[in-house]
Amino acid sequence: MGKPQRLDRLIAGQCLLTRSEAVKAIRRGRVTVDGVPCRQPDTKVDPDAVALALDGVDIGYREHLYLMLNKPAGLLCVSRDPSAPTVMDLVPPEWRRRDLFPAGRLDKDTHGLVILTDDGDFAHRMLSPKNAIYKHYLAVLDAPVDPSVPAAFADGTSFVDGTPCLPATLTVLEDGDTPLVDIAVCEGKFHQVKRMCGAHGLGVNWLKRVSIGGLKLDESLDEGACRLLTDEELSSIFG
Ligand code: URA
Repeated sequence: MGKPQRLDRLIAGQCLLTRSEAVKAIRRGRVTVDGVPCRQPDTKVDPDAVALALDGVDIGYREHLYLMLNKPAGLLCVSRDPSAPTVMDLVPPEWRRRDLFPAGRLDKDTHGLVILTDDGDFAHRMLSPKNAIYKHYLAVLDAPVDPSVPAAFADGTSFVDGTPCLPATLTVLEDGDTPLVDIAVCEGKFHQVKRMCGAHGLGVNWLKRVSIGGLKLDESLDEGACRLLTDEELSSIFG
């Protein structure tokens, strides 16, 4: 059972309506609770225990939203920025009223998996290095990888300024002058991957996050598109 909430607040929180539009819709009998119109905006209802509909359409109550976004390069990964486009510009209008934010940042030029949510506890659990949730990145580097580098990553390398890093992995997937590597880290310091590579004389030409814990980026999701995570996908992050 959830917490009983005012009907107008609930409707406004879940739909495209403002609070005052929700009040009007309720007074007009457009909102039903278990199939019966409820015209009192201040009626307390438990959203987990009743079926709520607006104009006959189930509002699909969700306490929190969890969206998978395939981030393109060129957008800031922040909740808002007055002067530059952000990943929030990619959120479809029906989810814009929620207080969504990116759970963990990618650089402007980094592509790939971002989770947008309004659940602060979840974001904290996912990002805390204590929980050792590994994030995998594919990276194209600007020089061959010396055989000593994977071992240095595994021991916990340091940035050039001496900042220590937790143990990580680097696996060469395609050798060559600009090798393709998989890098897994369980912390999210600013420019983490680029600075770890930089400490070994390696520049990062291209970077894409492809998984968080057991959750893989859905490669059928176009760059710039987002969709709801399934319950299974959500729990796979921590599994
Ligand atoms: N590490 C980086 O250097 N950049 C990112 O965007 C993510 C991890």
